[in-house]
Amino acid sequence: MIAQLPVVVLISGRGSNLQAIIEQQQRGDLPVDIRAVISSRPGAQGLDRARDAGLPAVIVDPGRFPARALFEKALMEEIDARAPALVVLAGFMLVLGSDFVRHYSGRLINVHPSLLPQFKGLHTHERALQAGVRYHGASVHFVTPDVDGGPVIIQAQVEVRADDNAQTLAVRVLKEEHRILPEAIRWFAQGRLGLEQGRALLDGRPCMHPEGSVP
Ligand code: GAR
Repeated sequence: MIAQLPVVVLISGRGSNLQAIIEQQQRGDLPVDIRAVISSRPGAQGLDRARDAGLPAVIVDPGRFPARALFEKALMEEIDARAPALVVLAGFMLVLGSDFVRHYSGRLINVHPSLLPQFKGLHTHERALQAGVRYHGASVHFVTPDVDGGPVIIQAQVEVRADDNAQTLAVRVLKEEHRILPEAIRWFAQGRLGLEQGRALLDGRPCMHPEGSVP
C-alpha cells in the first residue's frame, strides 16, 4: 500500500469526474497525490476545478503540434515529469496511440459511459436508447491499444426508464461514474488492483463483469 499514490489526471472538458476525485481526496477518502491535471483543451472547465483545488493545471493542446506523434510525446513528457504511479483518463476525449498506451501499461485507466463492451466510442447514451437496452451504465477499465476494449475493472448499472432521453440517462450514468472511478483508484492505491496477462485482477482474482462486478 502506497501512503499517497502519485496520480496524473487527463481531461478534455467539464471535469466532473476530476471533481469527484478531488472531493474524495480532500475528504480523506482517497489516498492520492494529484500531481497534475492535464487538459487537451485550453478552455476546459476542469482546468478551473484543478486551479480551485490548488493543483497544477497544464494544457497540452494537440492543435499546437504538427503531428500527432509529437503531441503524444509532449503529453508523455508532461506526465512523466510528475512520476505518477497511475494515470487517469477522466473525460479525456482523444484516442491515444499504441506507443503511448504501452508506455503506461498497467497504470492507465479510463472511465467510459457505457457497460463495455457495449457502446464503445461516442454518443453512448443516444445509442443505448436507440438500441432499446433495459440496462445502461458506466465502466472503468485498464487502457490497452484496443480502444475502449481493455479489461474492465468495475461497472455500474443504471436501469433505462421509458421516459429517458440522452440527457436524463447521462445524469444517472454520470452519478455512477463519480462513484466507480474513485473506487478503482482507491483499489489501485491500496495495492489491490493490477493488470496481469491481460486481465484486471482485484485481490488476485479476476474483476468480475459486467453485472456481477457492481459492489
Ligand atoms: C464522462 O461521461 C466520461 O465517461 C466520458 O466523458 C464524460 C466526461 O465528463 N468519457 C468518454 O466518453 C471517453 N471516451 P466530465 O468531464 O464531467 O468528467
